[in-house]
Amino acid sequence: MNGRDLVRAVKDIGTARGRRAWLSAWRHRRADAVGLPRRGAERARVPGLLTGTQPLPGGGVLRFARAELVVRVMAGGAVFWGWDGAGPLPSYAVAGSGPEPDPRAVLEPDTEGGWRVVSERVTVAVSRNGAVEVRTPGGTVLRRESPPRWWEPVDPRMGGARWAVRSEVPADARFFGLGGRAAGPRLRDGAYRLWNTDPKGGFGPGDDPLYLTMPVQLVVADAGTHLAFHDNSWDGRVLLREGEEGAGSGPDRPGASEMRMEGGPLRCWVLVGTPARVLQGWSGLTGAAAVPPEWALGYQHARWGFGSADEVRRVVAAYAARGFPLSAVHLDIDHYDGHRAFTVDEEKFPDLPLLAGELGEAGVRLVSIVDPAVKVGDAVHVSGRAVGAGGAFVRDAAGREVRGEVWPGECAYPDFTDPQVREWWGGLYGERLAQGFAGFWHDMNEPVSFKPFGDATLPRSARHALEGAGGDHREGHNVYALTMARAGWEGLVRLRPDERPFLFSRSGWAGMQRYGGSWSGDVETSWEGLRASLALVLGLGLCGVPYSGPDVGGFNGSPSPELYVRWLQLGAYLPLFRTHSAIWAGRREPWEFGPEAEEQARAVLAERERLRPYFVTLAHLARRTGAPYVRPLWWGAPEERGLRDCEDAFLLGDALLVAPVLECGADRRAVRLPRGRWYDTATGAAHEGPGQILLDAPRGRIPVLARAGSVLAVRGGRAGADAGAGGCGDGVELEVWAPARGRTGGGVVIRDPGPGFEAGVVERYTVRWVGDAVVVEDEAGEVVRGVRVRGV
Ligand code: NOJ
Repeated sequence: MNGRDLVRAVKDIGTARGRRAWLSAWRHRRADAVGLPRRGAERARVPGLLTGTQPLPGGGVLRFARAELVVRVMAGGAVFWGWDGAGPLPSYAVAGSGPEPDPRAVLEPDTEGGWRVVSERVTVAVSRNGAVEVRTPGGTVLRRESPPRWWEPVDPRMGGARWAVRSEVPADARFFGLGGRAAGPRLRDGAYRLWNTDPKGGFGPGDDPLYLTMPVQLVVADAGTHLAFHDNSWDGRVLLREGEEGAGSGPDRPGASEMRMEGGPLRCWVLVGTPARVLQGWSGLTGAAAVPPEWALGYQHARWGFGSADEVRRVVAAYAARGFPLSAVHLDIDHYDGHRAFTVDEEKFPDLPLLAGELGEAGVRLVSIVDPAVKVGDAVHVSGRAVGAGGAFVRDAAGREVRGEVWPGECAYPDFTDPQVREWWGGLYGERLAQGFAGFWHDMNEPVSFKPFGDATLPRSARHALEGAGGDHREGHNVYALTMARAGWEGLVRLRPDERPFLFSRSGWAGMQRYGGSWSGDVETSWEGLRASLALVLGLGLCGVPYSGPDVGGFNGSPSPELYVRWLQLGAYLPLFRTHSAIWAGRREPWEFGPEAEEQARAVLAERERLRPYFVTLAHLARRTGAPYVRPLWWGAPEERGLRDCEDAFLLGDALLVAPVLECGADRRAVRLPRGRWYDTATGAAHEGPGQILLDAPRGRIPVLARAGSVLAVRGGRAGADAGAGGCGDGVELEVWAPARGRTGGGVVIRDPGPGFEAGVVERYTVRWVGDAVVVEDEAGEVVRGVRVRGV
């Protein structure tokens, strides 16, 4: 506890909530004191020397003096290895039963008494003392994991082993990922904890961990890109140290990643290839990303503390009066009765279905916050207690319901790792749908239990069903939000089988994308917070969660007009584009920041609307290919080191390069360009990459560049008027940026197939010069008319 927390904790004793929080903190501490196995003396172990092997499809088992390792290469090229009997399943991350082994990959002797499995895309080699090496087909080492070390309680009844593994990567490698990290996207030297955590009241770049951690590393080096996933939901730490290349003929110092886990299986997946290939493999392994409904790709406004339905009406009318597009309004916990989930404050929101209907006519959806903690004694609590044999709520080691303090007061926590509980919880969303809500915002699901001291979550000894396997919160904590998302998603699909649910969640884990997206949580209102928001979105995308975005304007303060506009300009190019703020913080409506900011915001919102069909394409591509909408500049050229270190710009799909202004007072900025020609979309000027250019960034706009030859679906001004030309009668037009002379281009468009689960049709276009004209052709070779050609 730091000084600030101590003062707050002491003050809290003066309030009823504070006293309850103190009490629950003591109870949790006591629960752990009696409920957690005391580890006592431990014995260290390493695998020892190889004693034998046994082939299996895709690889085999390697026996060491004191451990056993299974290595398998799967069809598609994913590599799996697991120690001491750990297989790919059960797993919260892996979708379905996971990939099948590649029957062509066989275990064969390697040099120096080791063994290896050679496959088309990757070779995995195991040394005689248990080091595992991942090599490219050309033999370059991408990752070398040293023999693990375990620490086991001498008394086996005291639980499983803690373990550590240290991996080396090439000296030039850069680390990304580990979930949503404020300090990213490039993860520099330091310790990163794997424990989903609410940092309380606004975070900046120095805060770690945050709400959504996962043991997924994306490592980018000259020799190749790989993703390593240690499938283990326990608490742990990853210590990263970037490597150093030796000066002159001096030796390189490799990069290192050491993982220290408090328990759980030691098993690892590695995917190798280009970034696009790696993410495709990752989405194949952990499941395709949910496609949000089309409206969730428009601008959304949230606030903690709208206070009443009439205030919501006033805000929506004010957007409409100004001609500002608005796709959704999010209601926070203040619309609940006494902050209790699945209730409505009938005094302040007397007829929610009516409000939802009125808003719906104006094209505005209502989104509801959903907190997992259930007020003790509430109707939802009573109904949950009737679930299964033992009720729906997490219990302690002695069988008592675990209680914590959250917004409604004393609460119980559904155990979403129990399928029966998920089914019950999913059914509760029927009440929300009946109230007229169209989307769901999962919050406080790390899960949070307010405490003046100790970890602000459930006791580690709290029991979880873990799909019948049984275990405690040390294992269940990090998958709490993931399983809550599964419950919500599956419930919504049951309730509205013809509609794709819209769900995003503060916390989550590997595989989260199957059910929805995420958002930044309480990012602080500051320029550092603005930078952290971009880091989070990039990092999550590289971990397979493509749909996310920040609280535009920051959560907890009052941004200056400049900061607000810069944040809005960034947010407009991120998948979840939402303004939001705390009940105690300033407002976030664009007209609250003066007439100049209002006009600047008008341009930003209009541009997002124009690009909405492009976002639809990117959403469908994310589902099909695993590629995030928002990609680091090195996405297509990971070998370009300058791009690897560029953290203040990003690619939006294949076509756009967005260079937000992240510095106070800046009116121009340097932009690093990947190879090829890039057009400044504001001026039409062409720039040749690779290289760095300086571009104007006046307060009203940020530099956005379009790749020569690219094709974008945009919302046209001539909606419906020119069906059969670049459009389809759906208001979508093609915008094409001229390829350099003598070159060709192209792109794909996927139009919104409606609210259901249809995959959408992939339209492929090619772009080429014919004489002095740029011509766009569809797959049948027909020339597409009515296309807006730019850059000529
Ligand atoms: C914490 C969330 O991060 C924030 O967005 C929300 O407004 C508050 N909880 C209140 O529900």
